[in-house]
Amino acid sequence: MERIGILTSGGDAPGMNPCIRAVVRTAIDQGAEVFGIESGYEGLIDGKIDQMNESSVANIIYRGGTILGTSRSDFFMTEEGKRRAINMLEVFSISKLVVLGGDGSLKGASELAKRGIDVIGIPLSIDNDLGYTDFSIGFFTAIETVTNAISKIRDTTESHGRAHVVEVMGRECGDIALYSGLAAGAESVVVPERKIDLNRMAELAIRTKRRGKKHHIIIMAEGAGNSFELAEEFENLTDIETRVTVLGYLQRGGEPNIVDRLMASMMGNKAVEFILKNYGGYAIGTKNNEIFISDIDEAMGVKKEFRDDINDILKSISI
Ligand code: F6P
Repeated sequence: MERIGILTSGGDAPGMNPCIRAVVRTAIDQGAEVFGIESGYEGLIDGKIDQMNESSVANIIYRGGTILGTSRSDFFMTEEGKRRAINMLEVFSISKLVVLGGDGSLKGASELAKRGIDVIGIPLSIDNDLGYTDFSIGFFTAIETVTNAISKIRDTTESHGRAHVVEVMGRECGDIALYSGLAAGAESVVVPERKIDLNRMAELAIRTKRRGKKHHIIIMAEGAGNSFELAEEFENLTDIETRVTVLGYLQRGGEPNIVDRLMASMMGNKAVEFILKNYGGYAIGTKNNEIFISDIDEAMGVKKEFRDDINDILKSISI
């Protein structure tokens, strides 16, 4: 019987649980055994590995977080860490591994593939920072959470005639800011990929205020700078009272939305289908609404591009 291991790694993302469910149930349905690895690569190294069955994943399709637990393991990135991880897979006779995670986690998976393990990576990251796939699981729930929060912030901002800087997650990737900014009707987004044009933002705020607009919302990705400094500079330039809200970790939690549940179920199922056909060293992704599979090294080499076209739409309709 084939033995498939599964782990979740890096920052958790809503959709990890439905994806674990899809992997476990598909594997059992196809006659394989599944082993859940606790706390990502850290748990793999420590041998925290248990067999799972159909019931292990009951009632988790709607739950945020990950029942397997996760970690960011510096030790796994060392030669010794990877050697011990592979050794542990051998001890449990696991030759196939499904890794759920973002950029760092899938890079870790590709390292294991180079050392002979049949690995398939599934993109799970609220940041949506993987270049090879249009979207990562977790992203749509995160931007829904952010968009709902901005609607509430907008109410109070409007009542007081203020401006508001909302800081969202994204150290290197501004997608959360960009997409939630468009969905929430924000006036500007500030992202790590592009230089800030504070004068344009201030000029827009002054012009729209004169016309009667009572709020001005700026969404700033955490990696783009200091949101409190930005708010101060903006207030000085515009004379509009400006407040700051840092949304923080609430963006990572919560019930996965429909899109993430669907992507998680389909990608989890595909990953097992491919891994049982002896595909090793691959990553699953989505392009133009179709699920595809790509060599994991090639996938990891694709640079994430910022969508200026979407930012242009935001600018054009937030006047
Ligand atoms: O999951 C990605 C991310 O949310 C980043 O946007 C953020 O900077 C980071 O994780 C923080 O995660 P932690 O504090 O758990 O390492």
